[in-house]
Amino acid sequence: MIGRLNHVGVATPSIDESVKLYRDLLGATRIGEKFALPEQGVWVCFVDLPNSQIELIEPHGDASPLLGFLAKNPKGGQHHVCFEVEDIIAARDAMRAKGATVLGTGEPRIGAHGTPVIFLHPKDMGGVLVELMETPKDAH
Ligand code: CO
Repeated sequence: MIGRLNHVGVATPSIDESVKLYRDLLGATRIGEKFALPEQGVWVCFVDLPNSQIELIEPHGDASPLLGFLAKNPKGGQHHVCFEVEDIIAARDAMRAKGATVLGTGEPRIGAHGTPVIFLHPKDMGGVLVELMETPKDAH
């Protein structure tokens, strides 16, 4: 069911400042351009690692779901983990059947990698916000 760890989501008040940490302190060399996902209220920037990615996310707009997180964690912090699944609809239905809470309407949205994603409520996941993402068809 659960597949590859696609990325770890890290919320930040400033992607530009966070990029400096990953590039200058940790030595990451493959860092993408920042881009907006207005429907999700975030700016996104991927830091590529040999085995996964860090997804830096910064609030975009006044209704960003990240604003509440940053109010509690002003410096930012680890926000979610994203696992790949083969079929997002099958995964959603299986999660619901097992009692997990799918956030929002439950209809998958297009995520930062251009494939459908859903989020599982942390209350059912030991406090961890989990993103499930359909594996890109041309990946791996
Ligand atoms: Co994510």
